[in-house]
Amino acid sequence: MAEVVVVADKEAAGELAAESIQALIAAKPDAVLGLATGSTPLPVYRALARRVAAAGTDVSHVRGYALDEYVGLPAGHPESYRAVITREVVEPLGLTPSLIHVPNGAIATIEHAGADYEKAIAESGGVDVQLLGIGTDGHIGFNEPGSSFASVTRVKTLTEQTRKDNARFFASEDDVPMHCITQGLSTILRARHLLLLAFGEGKAEALAGAVEGPVSASNPGSAIQLHPHVTVLVDEAAASKLRNIDYYRYAYAHKPAWQKL
Ligand code: F6R
Repeated sequence: MAEVVVVADKEAAGELAAESIQALIAAKPDAVLGLATGSTPLPVYRALARRVAAAGTDVSHVRGYALDEYVGLPAGHPESYRAVITREVVEPLGLTPSLIHVPNGAIATIEHAGADYEKAIAESGGVDVQLLGIGTDGHIGFNEPGSSFASVTRVKTLTEQTRKDNARFFASEDDVPMHCITQGLSTILRARHLLLLAFGEGKAEALAGAVEGPVSASNPGSAIQLHPHVTVLVDEAAASKLRNIDYYRYAYAHKPAWQKL
């Protein structure tokens, strides 16, 4: 089962996740990071940027693969995930831009963009740690409800709920693209460690479904139950619908000193 860690706030979650990622980079300087976008991972990137600067960690060989991208946004659009990853991750951390990959959402090459991305991930040796947020409808990556557990990187249609949720990044809901290209659930499950973060009451139901609900394509986040190494970092509000919360707190309080996240 997932290790569920309830933290005081998103900054505390960011510190814990960043500590784990920094240790990974120290042990494996060309580590492959699975990068999520959206609001959730921002405290992780901020904490990691501070930590690597303070410790002088060499991140020049770190590789990265983003989870997803919108289809059809003009190149350089500030809300394209390529632009977001550059702004929030590559620049603050000082990563090497050519080693950081985002699925290609350009229409001209979209038919083979998914297969190209799968090939690139496989050739990298696979993702060491995959950061994940979760949508209010339970999506991880942009695998909306009904996505196959066997799915790989491909084009999906965003749900109306997701377009509403993401309208805050655009001038209006109509400006949120209809389609995206996203790693599949099977792609995500191939990463060696999944680090899922969720904050706020709005995520409580989706999070409880992912961690404790039936494993079902109707709830894509529940795919994490099929993975042997999952860490879930949540604040009290996002944890509020977990039934086994007392056990998670108990297990974390008694975590063996030698065991990492
Ligand atoms: C982003 C992604 C999505 C988000 C999810 C939550 O790359 O794949 O699954 O993690 O939509 O978004 P936020 O973090 O903005 O609440």
